[in-house]
Amino acid sequence: MVVASAPGKVILLGEHAVVYGEPAIATAIDLRTRVRATRRAAGSGTIVNGYPLTPAYHTHLVHALDVAAEAIGAPLADVAFETESRIPSAAGLGSSAALTTATLAAVLALAGATKDEEHLARLAYEVEWRAQGGRGSPTDTSTVAHGRAVLVDRDARERLLWTVKRGERTWHLHHLDAPAVSIVIGNTQERGRTTDQVAKVAKLVAKSGFAKEIVKDVGKSTRDGIDALRAGDWPRLGRAMDRAHNSLTTLGVSTPRLDQFCETARKAGALGAKLTGSGGGGSMIALAKDPERVAAALAKHRAQTFVVALGAEGARVEEGP
Ligand code: PMV
Repeated sequence: MVVASAPGKVILLGEHAVVYGEPAIATAIDLRTRVRATRRAAGSGTIVNGYPLTPAYHTHLVHALDVAAEAIGAPLADVAFETESRIPSAAGLGSSAALTTATLAAVLALAGATKDEEHLARLAYEVEWRAQGGRGSPTDTSTVAHGRAVLVDRDARERLLWTVKRGERTWHLHHLDAPAVSIVIGNTQERGRTTDQVAKVAKLVAKSGFAKEIVKDVGKSTRDGIDALRAGDWPRLGRAMDRAHNSLTTLGVSTPRLDQFCETARKAGALGAKLTGSGGGGSMIALAKDPERVAAALAKHRAQTFVVALGAEGARVEEGP
């Protein structure tokens, strides 16, 4: 038996634009997914929380098993998975990346083939790539595998962790010290589908020069946010978040509720607020000196709120083999 866990994540700045080579900053959060994997008798099949493994319901798990089997060069069958998660699903908080990465860590350990963090991040990205129909950046999976915080950039800089190439794109993943702040998450509880939002932006970018400019604007806000982080200048980081939210709204990935939550957070004293992740529902984040006050204001609008510390530990095997 093996238990592995992985954290959720928030994208502080740069979602969507990172798919087109602009930078992004993401950090792991202290909400985790745990996966317990136990071997079953040969021929008895694989079950998930007591139910047979079904591709339509367990897309990421099915791909994770395929990718792990390819990595170890042997099929992986007859496993009982039990999963539990504090990360709400389809909320832009990395629940699928956490499930993928924790599952990979668990089955690899079960097969006696534990991989290092970089290898785990690469395999997890392969799973996400297949599950998302061949789109998307390695931001979520690398953040969840590495933990702490990650800077994604098209250029290699100091503290490079690893480099990922897909088609014409190259992403350099760097370690970043997580900012020592708590942030407020407001989950609209409207389910956003990453695949749909990424496809929607891809369509827009393919046909509109204006959309390409907006993607670059998101990149500018991210670069400004990186400088603000380095200087510990929280008001400037907040302003970069506000600008990024406006650009993402123009790209069509915000929703009225996300906009309303961001406005509520700002009125309650947040230094900045923006949607996080792919949007179309899901969550927003706010940077605030008094996070509890902002969380209370959001809760009045029926948000599911979390005040989370940034920079949680990455994927790890907790028990076994
Ligand atoms: O919605 P999430 O948490 O899966 O975030 C997706 C981030 C995007 O930039 C929209 C896509 C990507 O693959 O980077």
